[in-house]
Amino acid sequence: MKDTNEKPLLLKLVKSQHRQLVAPLTFSAYAPLLQDPNTSVFALQSGFLDKKPHFVGLSVGYFAGEEGKILSLYVQPLYRGRGLAHLLIENLVKDLQEKRAKMVGVSYMQKPILDHLFTKFGFEKPVEKMRVLHFDSKTMRRTRWVRNIPLPSKYQLFPLAEATGKDQQKMQEIFGRKDFPKELRFTKNPETIEKISSTGERKNAILIGRLATHKVAPKTIRYTSLYVDENNRLIPIALMTTAIRNHCEKAVDDPFAIQGVLTNYPKMQILAKRKLEPLANKVAISVDRTLFL
Ligand SMILES: CC(C)(COP(=O)(O)OP(=O)(O)OC[C@H]1O[C@@H](n2cnc3c(N)ncnc32)[C@H](O)[C@@H]1OP(=O)(O)O)[C@@H](O)C(=O)NCCC(=O)NCCS
Repeated sequence: MKDTNEKPLLLKLVKSQHRQLVAPLTFSAYAPLLQDPNTSVFALQSGFLDKKPHFVGLSVGYFAGEEGKILSLYVQPLYRGRGLAHLLIENLVKDLQEKRAKMVGVSYMQKPILDHLFTKFGFEKPVEKMRVLHFDSKTMRRTRWVRNIPLPSKYQLFPLAEATGKDQQKMQEIFGRKDFPKELRFTKNPETIEKISSTGERKNAILIGRLATHKVAPKTIRYTSLYVDENNRLIPIALMTTAIRNHCEKAVDDPFAIQGVLTNYPKMQILAKRKLEPLANKVAISVDRTLFL
């Protein structure tokens, strides 16, 4: 068993092979960013494992156009509560400042320890960006409104995987519009799109909306990118109920779901508060904070 009382060493990682070694301590999606020269990586080393440095914590930041962003902060459980996160943030912020960042942003799922840490560094008050709802398919399946939303016959719901060339064309046209919210475009990883629950909707044979779902973690589907091209109260619910029903009935290996509801879409917030939050096992709040240097 390692002696965790020994104080880990704080290092700035520059070499590609060292940066690769800390990849398991952050999100897999950040692996390519760890190799980017605009990325700053600080790590805590506690001895060696198999002759390689053994890293027990890290902070990762990105610098672009006068703005720094804290992407990741992590300390292994055995090493927590000794000021190490403080050390990681302090060095990262200093580094971004040396690169002439005028501000540093951070986004995180709100919890008291993070609120405390970033307040201590002088970050502005948290601004709510998204509510993240966590569900399980057992609870969703039991809900009456999920089972029964009749739609007029001119509307047609279909598996998004069966979108025709005409549907695709319409989708591109909608996404290309100036006012189309960029957050609702398809994910950078189209290959993670979950085929069973992703749903499209046509009105009079013309595509008007879609709800794409993604497999984001083992056993977990994320409902993302709900978009409807017209102001009809029934449509977003119909898309959602169809996706949820298919998820619950057919995607049995993935019993969990999460859905992020962006704060700057008030209509969706109302729908989510009324219909979805009562079903959620947990509601987490994602916040943005900024430190002006
Ligand atoms: C958040 C995390 C990095 C903290 O690491 P750590 O090394 O234990 O943090 P530190 O010891 O430097 O500082 C913790 C501070 O929070 C305080 N704290 C601890 N628990 C707290 C709580 N529940 N509420 C408020 N403050 C709390 C401590 O008193 C300490 O403050 P102080 O220095 O003013 O006394 C670590 O818990 C972690 O890796 N968590 C999981 C990953 C995560 O949430 N990452 C953030 C993504 S941005």
